Amino acid sequence: MSRSPKLIIAAVALAALAGSVAFAGGPGEKTESQAEAKPAQRFNIGRAPSADEIRGWDIDVRPDGQGLPVGKGTVAQGEKLFMDNCASCHGEFGEGAGRWPVLAGGKGSLTSDNPVKTVGSYWPYASTLFDYVRHAMPFGSPQSLKVDEYYALVAYVLYLNDVITDQNFELSNSNLATIKMPNEGGFIMDDRATSEKAFWQKEPCMKNCIAPVKITGRATAVDVTPEDKDGKPRGVE
Ligand code: HEC
Repeated sequence: MSRSPKLIIAAVALAALAGSVAFAGGPGEKTESQAEAKPAQRFNIGRAPSADEIRGWDIDVRPDGQGLPVGKGTVAQGEKLFMDNCASCHGEFGEGAGRWPVLAGGKGSLTSDNPVKTVGSYWPYASTLFDYVRHAMPFGSPQSLKVDEYYALVAYVLYLNDVITDQNFELSNSNLATIKMPNEGGFIMDDRATSEKAFWQKEPCMKNCIAPVKITGRATAVDVTPEDKDGKPRGVE
């Protein structure tokens, strides 16, 4: 059975990472109030960020448009901005200058021997594009452009990928989430906890093996470090 078109959402992690400046509550983490109750466990460096400081970092955007700043920009405006700020690396048409990343094309190539992953062929949501470009581009001076300029640039990159076909189209915070990306259906939620649950059992299935098999070790889900004979992880004295 071929599994190749099943691509699991990873781009969401980008947004989650970017928005996690006030990180608290990962597994084993103390929440703010718990940490407060036990001052001895704090590192006693730094200070709590101000609301303004958090706002500066908290710029992630979700597929439903949550987090989008108010703004707008047209394809035509984006074209000019792209020539000035992006084309030196990504090429005038997103074809990539030299070995800089290609931003357009590659449609239908994902299942071929030479998949070309671009915004148009691969990315699931227009929000990912806005989020990424605003966070990271222009490479070397991220967040140096205005919000309206980012909308215009995103509109132009979508235009290069035939997602938007009208030069006068104005992308804004109110219509960005309505844009459908060609490969949205190529992503699925990670459903292994249900779809593969039948395979998660203590004893491995050893029936109908192609060749005789001898079990030499087992990796349980969390503790995959090979152990020495004395039961200690390798490399630990
Ligand atoms: C100095 C060269 C340079 C410039 C200028 C530049 N980029 Fe990039 N861009 C990069 C590099 C390098 C990456 C890959 C970064 C990485 O993977 O960490 C990238 C990645 C991207 C990606 C993601 C590509 C993908 O499929 O992963 C997009 C979209 C993008 N840039 C858009 C823009 C836009 C829009 C501008 C102009 C505002 C711009 N870039 C300016 C070098 C540049």
